[in-house]
Formats: sequence, C-alpha cells, structure tokens
Amino acid sequence: MEANDGEPAAKSPAEEEMTTLSRHHFGSSEDTGDVFSVTIIENMKEEYGLFVWPCSIILAEYVWQQRSRFTGASVVELGAGTSLPGLVAAKVGADVTLTDDSNRSEVLTHMRRQCDLNDIKCKIHGLPWGVWDTQTFCLCPNIILGADVLYDSCVDMSILHGYQAFDDLFATLAFLLQSCPSSVFITTYHNRSGHHLIGFLMVKWGLKCVKLLDGFSFMPSYKTSSLSGNIQLAEIVLDTANRDEKKLM
Ligand SMILES: C[S@@+](CC[C@H](N)C(=O)[O-])C[C@H]1O[C@@H](n2cnc3c(N)ncnc32)[C@H](O)[C@@H]1O
Repeated sequence: MEANDGEPAAKSPAEEEMTTLSRHHFGSSEDTGDVFSVTIIENMKEEYGLFVWPCSIILAEYVWQQRSRFTGASVVELGAGTSLPGLVAAKVGADVTLTDDSNRSEVLTHMRRQCDLNDIKCKIHGLPWGVWDTQTFCLCPNIILGADVLYDSCVDMSILHGYQAFDDLFATLAFLLQSCPSSVFITTYHNRSGHHLIGFLMVKWGLKCVKLLDGFSFMPSYKTSSLSGNIQLAEIVLDTANRDEKKLM
C-alpha cells in the first residue's frame, strides 16, 4: 500500500499480523565464499504472489546449484511473486528482471520491497502473459525462470479458462525463447497441474523439454521437511528441428 506522497503507508495491525519474514539459506560450510541467505516478506493472507510456494524454494535451490550458468546471464522471472529464484540468480551474478502481472500492483510493490530488504538490484517489470509492450520487446533473456506458473488450472477455473492462461504463458515464453537463440526456460511445477496441457502446448508453440527432474532429487534434506507434493523441474527450449521441418512442409 502506498500513501499519496509515494511513501509506503503505515500498515494496519491486521495487515502486520498477516506479514511474516522467511529466511532461505544457500550453500553449506563446504561452499566457502558462496554461502548466503535471502529474506522474503510473505503475506499469509493472500493466495498467489505474496507467499513463497514450494516450487519457488526448489527452483531457487536449483539456481544456486547451477550458479555457474547464471553468472553474467540475462535472466527474466515470469510470475515471480515473492521472487526467490530471481533474487538468488541476482545474488550469483545474473542481470535479473522480475516480472508479474501488471494488473496486480501489490505484487510488484512487494517485489521492490524484497529487493530493498536484501539489498539486491533487479529490474521490475509488469508482464501479463500474452500481452506485449515495448519493454517486453527489449527483454532478451538467456534464461527464463518460472516457479509454479503452470498452476492448478482445473480446480478453481474451468478447463477452457485454464487452457487460455497456459496458452498465454506459452505465447510469451515462445516469444522470449525466440528473441535469444540458445535460451532456456527453467520451471518447477506440481505434477497435479494439468501436465497433459503442457505437452500439447509445447508442440503447439514449437518447444521441447530437454531435462526433467524430480524436484526433490537435488534438494538438501534439511530443506525438504517442510515441503510436500509431486514437484517436477523441467528445462524447455525451442524445438528448432521440428520448426524447420514444419517450414519445409
Ligand atoms: C502460484 S503463484 C507463484 C508465485 C511464485 N513464482 C512462487 O512460486 O512463489 C503464480 C504467480 O503467477 C502470476 N500470474 C498469474 N497469472 C498471470 C498472468 N496472466 N500474467 C502474469 N503473471 C501471472 C501471479 O501473480 C503469481 O505471482
């Protein structure tokens, strides 16, 4: 919430009660020099975007473990919400743009707070899936991140609405992957969330999965006790061979 003069307005006691800080550690004592933590402000009252979802914890750990790929890379996080993976990417030396739905200004405001709290510099950009503005055309990421962006399409939405949301996300994704050859989308998602649609949309948008991992397979055990669910990590790229074949037909 912002006051009229641009300063953050004082929070009501009810809002304060709903806000909590969580601290996320990366590295162990053996990783000399690389150990750090990221503090996230969470709002337990809200459902999406202001809460650290398990997929985000798993993707952030993967970013840390794969940090050599991120140093010096241009990274865009889609549907970033509390932005843990993007903040870790920035910590290990990536140039990061955090994005979320521009219709949800509270999420974008929250992202700025996360960056300030951790003294991390990231660009913040409203990016509703399937909608393009001039800033989006300037993004040329080497790596695109998305934690829990392929989320439950069938529980609280109609299948058709779920398809539209996924289709919009894939449209944005395909555009970003085409804007930078050899770029990759790294995502974590719950297996419950309509993965049949993911396969269909990958074919539709000329994408393919090049890596699929059980999200828990690379997590240190001390981080998994509070996590549950069947979470997968996928790396998705442009399927250039099939695109070329389609063009020839
Ligand atoms: C389940 S939350 C995941 C948040 C965060 N990545 C995490 O894992 O903690 C889904 C996120 O996608 C964003 N989102 C949903 N629909 C969107 C759209 N059409 N365009 C852009 N972002 C969207 C939401 O605002 C929310 O931050």
